[in-house]
Amino acid sequence: MDLQARFFCGRIEGLEFLFQGANLEDFGGTMKFGFFDDKEREYVINEPLTPYPWINYLGNEKFFSLISNTAGGYAFYTDARLRRLTRYRYNDIPLDCNGRYFFIKDGDAIWNPGFKPMKTKLDKYECRHGFGYTKIASEKNGLAADVLYMVPNGENCEVEMVTLTNKGKSDKDISLVSFIEWCLYNGQTDGENFQRNLSTGEVEIEGSVIYHKTEYRERRNHFAFYSVNSPIDGFDTDRETFLGLHNSLDEANVILSGKSGNSVADGWSPIASHRLNCTLKAGESKTYVFILGYIENPEDKKFISEKDVKQPFKATNKYSGIVNKEKAYALQEKFSTKEKVEAAYNALRSFWDETLSHFAISTGDEKLDRMAVWNQYQCVVTYNFARSASYFESGIGRGLGFRDTSQDMLGAAHQLPSKRIRERLYDVAATQFEDGSAYHQFQPLTKRGNADIGSNFNDDPLWLVLGVGNYIRETGDKDFLKVEVPFDNSETNKATMFEHLKRSYNYIPNHMGPHGLPLIGRADWNDCLNLNCFSKDPNDSFQTCTNKEGKNAESVMIAQMFVYVTPDYAAMCRIMGDEAEAKKAEDLCKKMEAAICSAGWDGDWYIRAYDDFGHKIGSKECDDGKIFIETQGFGTMAQCGADKGYPAKALDSVKKYLDSKYGICIVDPPYSSYHVELGEVSSYPPGYKENGGIFCHNNPWVIIGEIKTGRPNDAWEHYKKIAPAYLEEISEIHRTEPYVYAQMIAGKTAGRFGEAKNSWLTGTAAWNFVALSQFICGLQPAYEGLRIEPRLPEHVKKAEMTRKFRGVTYHINVVNKKNDGKIVISVDKGNAKIDGTLVSAENGCSEVFLTATVG
Ligand code: GLC
Ligand code: GLC
Repeated sequence: MDLQARFFCGRIEGLEFLFQGANLEDFGGTMKFGFFDDKEREYVINEPLTPYPWINYLGNEKFFSLISNTAGGYAFYTDARLRRLTRYRYNDIPLDCNGRYFFIKDGDAIWNPGFKPMKTKLDKYECRHGFGYTKIASEKNGLAADVLYMVPNGENCEVEMVTLTNKGKSDKDISLVSFIEWCLYNGQTDGENFQRNLSTGEVEIEGSVIYHKTEYRERRNHFAFYSVNSPIDGFDTDRETFLGLHNSLDEANVILSGKSGNSVADGWSPIASHRLNCTLKAGESKTYVFILGYIENPEDKKFISEKDVKQPFKATNKYSGIVNKEKAYALQEKFSTKEKVEAAYNALRSFWDETLSHFAISTGDEKLDRMAVWNQYQCVVTYNFARSASYFESGIGRGLGFRDTSQDMLGAAHQLPSKRIRERLYDVAATQFEDGSAYHQFQPLTKRGNADIGSNFNDDPLWLVLGVGNYIRETGDKDFLKVEVPFDNSETNKATMFEHLKRSYNYIPNHMGPHGLPLIGRADWNDCLNLNCFSKDPNDSFQTCTNKEGKNAESVMIAQMFVYVTPDYAAMCRIMGDEAEAKKAEDLCKKMEAAICSAGWDGDWYIRAYDDFGHKIGSKECDDGKIFIETQGFGTMAQCGADKGYPAKALDSVKKYLDSKYGICIVDPPYSSYHVELGEVSSYPPGYKENGGIFCHNNPWVIIGEIKTGRPNDAWEHYKKIAPAYLEEISEIHRTEPYVYAQMIAGKTAGRFGEAKNSWLTGTAAWNFVALSQFICGLQPAYEGLRIEPRLPEHVKKAEMTRKFRGVTYHINVVNKKNDGKIVISVDKGNAKIDGTLVSAENGCSEVFLTATVG
């Protein structure tokens, strides 16, 4: 369908049907806005007006950018709050209207390769989001513009390479104008402290490079620049000159008039814009390289004196000193030609090929194979960003979450260098207190626990045990348990990582409630189950307000988590030679399971919790909130009460009460009114977020539970309902990117059932990867080797899987006769020991070929 026509029918005419039960048929059988290019490993968007900005992440170490399919977004160095380089306005109208924009003027036509901000109808538009780069290619009136955006590995810059090609028959006189708007570094005060920041903006312009040196005169030892590798025909650094005070970006003075103002910013809102005029003969191409860079200088080398200035420059004022640009010149030189950019691009692609080669599958189901690739990419992005910067997280609020990060490691440990996982787990454990509890969040730049949110989320300690256990199972790096790690970042108060785990694990039995179940504290995994909050004041934060002593409210989920992590914990105790602690843990675990079976079982499913008055939460006795997903997930993953048939019953109840066509809802029925004894969960409108949304994060717990209960077909049904590649055809309903998971999809009681929010940064990525790789494909890292227990869906009859594990490449050929049947492993080539489904390569053997016959 034609771009504008579709836009019209989907968004305006169709609104009545759109959100009151949109049907695929109304869209001619598909609501796609692009497709997967599996060979290139790119998602190709061919209509700029996607149902929501569909974004990508650039950068893998210190310099990061978010980029949408219309080139919106922003860049920052390490910390999206403290070192934000370009300005972005969340929740603005129109949506996603600031970014790195190129304006092209070709005769009377003015357009952007990424469609926005001019929104000129294009003859061709294509955006390719790849791993760590984005390419936008457009055409208008015989002029083609190809733009590559990327952050090269190891560099603190975003490189933007623009190639213009005249595909017409006659010469073209063209102008290309760039535009970015600087952020004044602190993303938070940038948006609120105008009495100060409207007076501080300072720039220098030297040659073709614009330097953003706001606050450099005083305490900042860093600056940013925007360069282009060609002489320019004009520039602007003052936003008002560029736009005109009352104009928006699609009617900028400088663009409409075809003349730059050569403005030098003096306070207000500094920007960076270059003008390049060129004549392109028929068939001719020209390439320009723009660099958005970030530089730090040592305190004593921040400035140069006037006599050392090599070329004329312009600056906001003469009092702020002249920036020492040596490092900037070096960075500009690194990417001064097309060839250099292409080399960096190829290196980036090789980096991703390697990163994604540790787990690869070919099943004949192209959507499933795609998920394996894109899910891993999302896992790396969540490793890099935790929950800090997305199109739903402003990057100025939360730092790294203790439980979030520990879980993210489950999707990263197999693919990133072990050093990076080890460092992150170390940082997490270093925010722990001596009693085993922990700061709920910490700042990535300072690595300090965040005192505003504090501690007392009683599930936190157990996630560390899981994160470290998974890391050791993956890498075999047992020595990590002996590393000295601080408590509360104190250099003088340290203990081994193992001791940290001991404190974590034992925190639970040391904080038990009246039913022999763990006390919940502020909340457990469900941040909104605030059972000690009792807030009646709208000015309170549910996350930090506590009005009860916390001696009564208990969590069945923490009890189940305790059972789930005990085997890992006991194994690590044995690695450390502490048999007594291992035995003690196994006894405690038995007791905990008994408590779950008596006080935590409701007849057909697991209860969720007990409130401060000792009333059940998530029970048939309740009016609303009769059943929650979390305890059905963790209860079945931990197989609590398996001898009594509880897991199968709980999973049947999930299907009966929680399941929907778009996934499993978190609670049913949602709370129809606010309950002071429950907190935030009951504050959301029914069907959204923790009050009945489809929380994608815990759907995989049920998937894993199904497989552990011997029901791979049910696992598969749940898997495919929320896996984004399977939702591509209902993009108008789902709305967020079809290549990544979202945190939440509106649940069956919501007005916008099926609509996703909070895409990208969510523990969903890691857990679905665990469900897919360790349970559906069945490749589980174990202490003694690689366990191979594929439980693939029925329609996959044959599969090939590759898993790199502790330096050995395992190629596994799966013959799937009956997916819940017996599994037999045989070696086809290479030397490996086989013990049931546990495989380990013999010393010196780096490649093993196996066949796994199922059923
Ligand atoms: C958010 C939080 C996570 C929490 C979940 C459920 O995704 O990041 O920590 O467990 O919500 O409330
Ligand atoms: C809100 C959200 C929850 C998130 C929490 C902490 O309560 O509903 O998902 O984990 O805030 O940021």
